[in-house]
Amino acid sequence: MRRTLRAALGEAIEAIGRVDAQVLVADALGVDRAHLAAHPMRVLTESEDAKVDLLVAQRAIGLPVAYLVGKREFYGRDFTVGPDVLIPRPETETLVEAALAHLAGQGAGATVLDLGTGSGAIAITLACERPDARVTATEASPAALAVARSNAKDRGCAERIEFAEGEWYGAVAGRAFDLVVSNPPYVARDDPHLAQGDLRFEPRSALADGSVDGLASIRAIVAGAREHLNPGGSLLLEHGYDQAVKVAALLAAAGLREIVSIADLAGIPRVAGGKIG
Ligand SMILES: C[S@@+](CC[C@H](N)C(=O)[O-])C[C@H]1O[C@@H](n2cnc3c(N)ncnc32)[C@H](O)[C@@H]1O
Repeated sequence: MRRTLRAALGEAIEAIGRVDAQVLVADALGVDRAHLAAHPMRVLTESEDAKVDLLVAQRAIGLPVAYLVGKREFYGRDFTVGPDVLIPRPETETLVEAALAHLAGQGAGATVLDLGTGSGAIAITLACERPDARVTATEASPAALAVARSNAKDRGCAERIEFAEGEWYGAVAGRAFDLVVSNPPYVARDDPHLAQGDLRFEPRSALADGSVDGLASIRAIVAGAREHLNPGGSLLLEHGYDQAVKVAALLAAAGLREIVSIADLAGIPRVAGGKIG
């Protein structure tokens, strides 16, 4: 016998908890969450019933909700995500806020470079929020770059972002920018979090660079900053919850000045930056 919506939702809640169950059942039915409460006695079709069961089973073994529904909201916009890209995190909105504050002091035509763009969350958000900026986004993974390009198209800003494949500054050799931003991999090689939660299913190369302290990517990006920033330009980097002091020291050692450390909404320092020149 086919289940009612109430019965299917009840079973899903028991298996994976209320919030995830509501999101996944709504996704399987192609409805919003209000529909779930409004139509409890609706009888599911055979294919809806099977889709609910599949999504709940996948979530029960740990697959991230964002991959199951194929999207995640970031800074008020939906981004398509899948196993080729990191799921954009709320703490990265702190980096976006810092970048927008920096751009507020710049005129039209300011140039921005996003290193390791992944889904394109940072580059696309900056291009949407500041249509007058010229944004370049680089990425080592061709598969991730394809996702970023597609997200830019969906958000209507594809023609305003230059996407380039390559290792950090490799794709922009000889060029300098007013602002360089990056949320690079920074999880330490042996961090147990890599074997927990959503991280188990995200691309390892988006999370960790294999270095013992997790700072190899940040070192590479800081090392190239002087060559790729215009005079007066700034570098802004996201880093791990316990890396603020080390990243500030790296920035200072590279000759950046006006070093800043910015906390996320939980009060944890997550963004470091500095200026050239
Ligand atoms: C933490 S993810 C950030 C993704 C996206 N910017 C965000 O904030 O959601 C780091 C990204 O850097 C990319 N990456 C890793 N090593 C790289 C390298 N050597 N050069 C360029 N990109 C790299 C990864 O593929 C991944 O997309």
